[in-house]
Amino acid sequence: MVADNNNLKDVYFSDTTLRDGEQMPGASLTPEEKVEIAKALAKAGIHSLDAGFPACASSEIEAIQGIVKEVKGPVISALCRALDSDIDKAYEALAEAEPYKRAVSIFVATSPIHREYKLRKSKAQLLEMIVNAIHYARQKFEIIAFSPEDASRTELNYLCEIYQAAIEAGATTIGFPDTVGILTPEKTRTTIRYILNHVPNIARAFMAVHFHNDLGLATSNTLAALEEGVQIVQCAVNGIGERAGNTALEEVVIALLLNQEQYQRAVDIDPKQLVSLSQLVAEKTSIPIAPNKAVVGSNIFATEAGIHQDGILKNLDTYLPFRPEMVGAEGIQIVLGKHSGRAAIAQRLKKLNFCLTEQQLDLVVAALKDAKKNEWLDAERLFSQTVKQLFGEQASFVSDLNERKSTIEV
Ligand code: KIV
Ligand code: ZN
Repeated sequence: MVADNNNLKDVYFSDTTLRDGEQMPGASLTPEEKVEIAKALAKAGIHSLDAGFPACASSEIEAIQGIVKEVKGPVISALCRALDSDIDKAYEALAEAEPYKRAVSIFVATSPIHREYKLRKSKAQLLEMIVNAIHYARQKFEIIAFSPEDASRTELNYLCEIYQAAIEAGATTIGFPDTVGILTPEKTRTTIRYILNHVPNIARAFMAVHFHNDLGLATSNTLAALEEGVQIVQCAVNGIGERAGNTALEEVVIALLLNQEQYQRAVDIDPKQLVSLSQLVAEKTSIPIAPNKAVVGSNIFATEAGIHQDGILKNLDTYLPFRPEMVGAEGIQIVLGKHSGRAAIAQRLKKLNFCLTEQQLDLVVAALKDAKKNEWLDAERLFSQTVKQLFGEQASFVSDLNERKSTIEV
């Protein structure tokens, strides 16, 4: 990618599911699994893949080589410390990719706490390391991203000095990682605005942001950074990653698409791929999706509450921010339980071909409402028992597993 002011309104998605996402404890992926996820990400329209950290294991090199061979479309990037040996490993992993489809992503921690305790280096020494690493990377790569790790806790003037030197040395993208996830949307805005206004050569590079979700603000911070004008956002499917994870890809895509009048940014990602992508990543990483996970959780299109069920049965959009088909989800589920009302219970009975009088319907509703706590836990069973009591043999199919939840086709 080459910076182009005409394209400032496009959002480029860099996906880090295979790198920061895989750093989540318990989430490790085989090279084959990485290739499969990379294919699904490419199908969804992701612009670049943060595919792994070659210096950390030979399986990372194998995975990246597999992705280069089998995945066409996105730029494939490898993470490196500012060490020639790391950059050599990144090149080994990416050598077969076209020069405009491979990237190296170099990081060095720059905050006072990292300088003093982890690296034991001065500001000047780090600047020198950064410039040297970028010069070295230029011999092998055309696309070079540089990120000051812990940027959000680095002194702003020093951060701007680093970015200026990195761009001067040849970085084509500068990253802003909020490594420990401490920023708020307001602080994100002022920090990004400061950088964009104080790095004199900033127009020669793209700016990418990478947020962690320690305060539950990664998506909000990413959107705030986009409003300030950054071009690249780094996300992970299901928001997986270190500690509380990274910005969730699906959340940013849908927030942008539903609020285009506010953000005025073009999004090339196919939202219909989001649910299948989410399920694939959950399956391969063994990191389950919380039922209430924004955009892709199983409860997003399910309701047990009577008032919501009644509204949805009259008009789907009464209680939905977007329809299931937008993200490739199946229909809406009307779940029976303590909170369900007459409308949902009547709809379920109709679906099962029962024609009830008002008094019979009252009996079924009362059975669910009067149930004890342990019975609510399996309200579906209670429902079928009550219907069987009312209808005897005719109702034998009610407990069929396929009938456990009613789904409204949309
Ligand atoms: O969060 C972080 O700082 C990172 C870097 C490696 C970019 O993931
Ligand atoms: Zn990170």
